[in-house]
Amino acid sequence: MRILFLGDVVGISGCSKILNNLLSQIKKNKIDFVIVNAENSADTGVGLTKEICEDFFKCGVNVITTGNHVWDQKEIMNFIDKEKRLLRPKNLFEPSPGRGFEIYINEHGIKIGVLNLMGNVFMKKCDDIFQTSKHFISKYHLKEDYDILVVDVHGEITSEKNAIGHFFDGKATLVVGTHTHIPTNDARILEKGTGYQTDAGMCGDYNSVIGMNKENSINKFLKKDSVKHYPSTGDATLSGVIVDCDMETGLAKKIKSFIFGGQLERA
Ligand SMILES: [Fe+2]
Repeated sequence: MRILFLGDVVGISGCSKILNNLLSQIKKNKIDFVIVNAENSADTGVGLTKEICEDFFKCGVNVITTGNHVWDQKEIMNFIDKEKRLLRPKNLFEPSPGRGFEIYINEHGIKIGVLNLMGNVFMKKCDDIFQTSKHFISKYHLKEDYDILVVDVHGEITSEKNAIGHFFDGKATLVVGTHTHIPTNDARILEKGTGYQTDAGMCGDYNSVIGMNKENSINKFLKKDSVKHYPSTGDATLSGVIVDCDMETGLAKKIKSFIFGGQLERA
């Protein structure tokens, strides 16, 4: 079984790259299951809408994860309770709408668990990610509750995501970071068999400042005239990881970065 995980989709540029290319990339790369972090996919670059989720599901996405911007488009609060394929970080303060973990059963009867977590350092306040993970690990077990487990760690700093990777080593198929919008060059299989990459990068225009218009972003740093951040609209790169799963153990057999289109593919 082969899983494609794509990092944060940013604005119209990221969305249209997914809508126009995902089905053909799934076919070309023989992908069985697709997870996408879509918390920046709305036109404004923050949050996501029901319409975007439905478009993504139609073009091959199986599960959507999110992070700190999950509620930025208010309509999603009602939709998330009805849509099992849309997750929000599990360690948001309760009660929060929606769910942070779900088990999906594919057409071959394979159970795929997806867990969405959010870091604590330099992020919106949420429950302790390590305590939430500890509790999760004591409750759920690979090859008992699910055949595969993918963990999206939405966080700002590399060390926290790296530590969560090791915390889940041997207990998850893949631990992958999101949120920074910059892919890290450290895809590997950890000591006990979990596939890992610190950040999947973004699906958006890299001729930008993390997906947002670069002139406006620089002006903000320079404290010159600027407006609210808005997404860059050039040709997007799809960025993420592909992991091959060992169905005997539920661990990773092989992991590699996935880069398609736009500036990063040309580099
Ligand atoms: Fe984020």
